[in-house]
Amino acid sequence: MYKTKALFIGCGDAQELLPLADQQEQLLIGLEPTDELFARACDNLKDFKNVLLIKQRIQDWEAAEYLGDIDQIFFIFPTPAVLRGQAKVNTAKIFSLLSQNGVFILYTEVTLTDWPDPDDRARLQAFLQSLSEECLSITVAEINYEQLPLMAKQSHCGILFKAHNITKFTLIEAKK
Ligand SMILES: C[S@@+](CC[C@H](N)C(=O)[O-])C[C@H]1O[C@@H](n2cnc3c(N)ncnc32)[C@H](O)[C@@H]1O
Repeated sequence: MYKTKALFIGCGDAQELLPLADQQEQLLIGLEPTDELFARACDNLKDFKNVLLIKQRIQDWEAAEYLGDIDQIFFIFPTPAVLRGQAKVNTAKIFSLLSQNGVFILYTEVTLTDWPDPDDRARLQAFLQSLSEECLSITVAEINYEQLPLMAKQSHCGILFKAHNITKFTLIEAKK
């Protein structure tokens, strides 16, 4: 029924889905495990029939009907602890969901060069290591605020980062 499917892991209040929500031919799936943010996400996106919001962590989502069937998977500003603590199980789940030509895209405020917290940098490195065990092609780039897509700028965290003058980010793109 839908031409394409996009998944947003840890979508928070789901503001990040809004720039794509008018595209009726695309199914947007938002995963958010916390009660309060999930309730806000449902409220923010209630007018869009092509949006499916699920109160789950990525590693707990069974998703049987979507295996190998998601074209784009976004992880926009994950909590750094998630990157390391659940890296293996999460990267395995992400790659089981991606379609043959699908792409996984992650934006994080943590940079490998000059982010001040070494633990966060190690978490990002661990996540990249785990990704590289799952896929053939990974691109990692440092970008500035202006290079973020609208969905990241409009997310709750994106708005906070602008307010706090955080200007450097890491973009990860991975393909099967
Ligand atoms: C830093 S917030 C970012 C929220 C939103 N993407 C944004 O940019 O405003 C990280 C989000 O990931 C969610 N989260 C944490 N662990 C998760 C997991 N294992 N699977 C899916 N979401 C998770 C949190 O509840 C939180 O809403």
